[in-house]
Amino acid sequence: MPSTVVVGGFYGDEGKGKLVSYLATRDSPRLVARGGAGPNAGHTIVDGGRTHKVRMVPCGFVSREARLAIGPGVLVDPDVLLREARDLGASGRLVVDSRCGVITAAHREADSRGDLAGRIGSTGSGTGPANADRAMRTLGLAADEPSLKGMVGDVPLEVNSALDAGERVLVEGTQGTFLSLWHGTYPYVTSKDVTAAGICADVGLAPRRVDEVIVAFKAYVTRVGSGPLEGELAPAEAEARGWAEFGAVTGRPRRAAAFDHALARRAAMLNGATQAAITKLDVAFGGCEGARSWSDLTAEARSFVEGVEASLGVRVTLMGTGPRVEDVVDRRAHA
Ligand code: IMP
Ligand code: MG
Repeated sequence: MPSTVVVGGFYGDEGKGKLVSYLATRDSPRLVARGGAGPNAGHTIVDGGRTHKVRMVPCGFVSREARLAIGPGVLVDPDVLLREARDLGASGRLVVDSRCGVITAAHREADSRGDLAGRIGSTGSGTGPANADRAMRTLGLAADEPSLKGMVGDVPLEVNSALDAGERVLVEGTQGTFLSLWHGTYPYVTSKDVTAAGICADVGLAPRRVDEVIVAFKAYVTRVGSGPLEGELAPAEAEARGWAEFGAVTGRPRRAAAFDHALARRAAMLNGATQAAITKLDVAFGGCEGARSWSDLTAEARSFVEGVEASLGVRVTLMGTGPRVEDVVDRRAHA
């Protein structure tokens, strides 16, 4: 599987960061390229006893050998990016495409008031207003941003050159299928397409060069911000089930519901899933904490996973069983 794309199957926060950091460690890709909207996404990674929250640097940073790339479809906030790159010691191996759009204070300000902050419940990160400027052809690009000098390059060329050389490329998506501007619950969505096709376009990976699409689900559904959530639980009920979560970027409480098979089926269809992943099995099913093999899972958890496979018609190859990078059951053929 020279190229593998990981995308979210629900409303974001499916645990993609954890999965990508596992895959980066386990598969040693040459390049980990990030697609998606921009710094509105937050990934939490627990590596070697340390918890990192990243909004710009690819989660593949946990693999020290991987080169890290941000594709031209992704908006960059130079302040956030440079701070994270420095804190993670990733500056020397990070390339930002010269065509990435740049978020300014004015975009963040516009995103923190009015309809976007109110009705839509945006993250306030400036992403929507910056994408609006991109559509208007007025947005500044990374190539012209002095603070990013020395970091800019040609990400699509790097992605394709690595594949030409027979090396592995891991592409990490952000947000989730139903936050897509086209396929999501419009208008309660993010400002671009975040399905596999969109994520691949973000990094310059053409459809014919995609080998594996892993659609990531969580064992239950959460949603932060406005918009429909089928079967939404009362906050006290979510709390009682241990499903109460808080947004990595905004700190807002996440709304929660049980796993939605119909939504998952549609996500598998829209993304052309070749594999599925289910995270937080340990949270939904007691007795699975830190499991590393299929036989370590409880019968209840296994039958849930088999039920998902039956309804999707896609094999569930990866299961998250705890917050640490290595807390994964991996049923991929070669693992
Ligand atoms: P925006 O992307 O900041 O404009 O926010 C639009 C909607 O998408 C809001 O409901 C946000 O909470 C949601 N959203 C955007 N990015 C993420 C994410 O990475 N995880 C979860 N929700 C997100
Ligand atoms: Mg998140």
